[in-house]
Amino acid sequence: MNGLGIVAAESSADSFKFFASRPVRIGEYVVVETPEGGALGLVERSLITSYSIATANTYIEAAEAGKASSSNPRDKGYKASARVLGLVEKLKVGVAYMPSVPPVPGTVVSEASSELLSSIYSRTERNFVPLGSLLRNQEVTVSVDINKVASRHLAILATTGSGKSNLLALIAKRVSKVRGTMVIFDYHGEYSELKIGTTSHVQPKINPRELEAEELAELLDISSSASRQRSLLASVLTNEVRRAGDFWEALNGALNGIMNDVEKSVEDVRNAQRLIEIIERARRRKGRIIDPDIGDPLDQVRPNYINIIDMAELTETQASIIISYYLSGLLEDRKQAQRQRMSGGEGRVRFSSPVIVAIEEAHAFLPADNHEKHDATSAASKVAREGRKFGLSLIIVSQRPSKVNQDILSQMGSLAVMRLTQPKDQSYILESSELMSEDLASYLPSMNVGEAMLLGQWVDLPSIVKVEKVEEKLTGADIDAVKQWSESQSRSGIAREDTSEFIKGI
Ligand SMILES: Nc1ncnc2c1ncn2[C@@H]1O[C@H](COP(=O)(O)OP(=O)(O)O)[C@@H](O)[C@H]1O
Ligand SMILES: [Mg+2]
Repeated sequence: MNGLGIVAAESSADSFKFFASRPVRIGEYVVVETPEGGALGLVERSLITSYSIATANTYIEAAEAGKASSSNPRDKGYKASARVLGLVEKLKVGVAYMPSVPPVPGTVVSEASSELLSSIYSRTERNFVPLGSLLRNQEVTVSVDINKVASRHLAILATTGSGKSNLLALIAKRVSKVRGTMVIFDYHGEYSELKIGTTSHVQPKINPRELEAEELAELLDISSSASRQRSLLASVLTNEVRRAGDFWEALNGALNGIMNDVEKSVEDVRNAQRLIEIIERARRRKGRIIDPDIGDPLDQVRPNYINIIDMAELTETQASIIISYYLSGLLEDRKQAQRQRMSGGEGRVRFSSPVIVAIEEAHAFLPADNHEKHDATSAASKVAREGRKFGLSLIIVSQRPSKVNQDILSQMGSLAVMRLTQPKDQSYILESSELMSEDLASYLPSMNVGEAMLLGQWVDLPSIVKVEKVEEKLTGADIDAVKQWSESQSRSGIAREDTSEFIKGI
């Protein structure tokens, strides 16, 4: 171990500041002696100060001070603060045990060795899977406890383009390797090309017989302002129609009945006519999704597979209905499975082992302002609260954490936070989760693509990691517009000379 610094005048058992002999990088690990033995610290903040430049008031003074400073080693101060993660000897055996006495000011601070960090982060038990390496020490592989993801939920939060979907694809790849069951709601068709072994691509289906009238109205694309059409639909969606052998025929029959009823107002007749057209159009466009003759849509979700639910063709509200429908169904099934496991009992269970459900764009489907349209929020809150007992867990993915429902976010036992630039999002995560510290939050805007802070139960100890890139995930990268324009231009036969003449003329 190398001498790196000296503990500053005031320290506490959970954090300390130290003067360093060189600039220290956030995410580095250090070891410091305490009266109870060596303790491991994670650098969460780093400062460089120059005493001569601090007194400069003008550009010339600053330039002179800068020159003087470069030849005077006493002028520059490197200072860092570290969070204490636990006693080294305990960490080596997998226990995070905090010292009760702070390191004494003046004690030497050393760099943590790769061997020590590997013994802590590169766990190889069956339930641990590798996700990448420590950002400041790439020799050290970081593994996470996938059992904790399957029971205590996970949130992946970062600005667009920082690597959230890549991380989710990596987790899916690891889960696939242990033949786990995952359901990914793919709103952007991003995972349509994912090739990681046990993937199953699912066309979502929903049975209109089981929907509330308002939900069916959404699926049929009846405008939300067309309240008369909506109430007319509610009035014809009787139990008799729901149970009819041919659902669509029965629904049409009921509407035709209104059209031919001389007692009805002109407006009702017109709306019934309009509804018939709307239903016809929706069946043409969405017949594959709204299907009264499917048994249970959950039958399409395969246990021990990574199920990608393709929602690219759906509007946000329709996707929200699908999410709510599948989540409620999965929770019921897992409850039933658990009951049978405890007390025997009868009945068909689809998923006899835990299921992980991933929801991308969580700010859209599980929004903070609990709009009544968003049934997915209530279904997901239920899973967030109860899922742990039944082996049903959530992975919430969002680029706008401050817009995600806080009740749900606060239930997430683990976090992967990547680059985040909005102060509002940073403070919201601080509020919602005790896992994040202010110092770490202030570093979030400086992170690069593919770098993630892993916090919470899946890692035990916080770490800043370079996440492995998943080559099997082909889509989701930024569109290369220039390349595509150039290809379409040569396809359409525009002569290259023309363009070059044009460019010359600029
Ligand atoms: N760990 C990583 N290493 C290298 N490149 C990455 C990594 N994660 C993501 N990328 C690249 O960054 C881009 C955006 O990644 P993506 O996962 O789609 O971000 P997000 O889902 O946050 O918008 C992609 O082109 C992807 O290839
Ligand atoms: Mg994404």
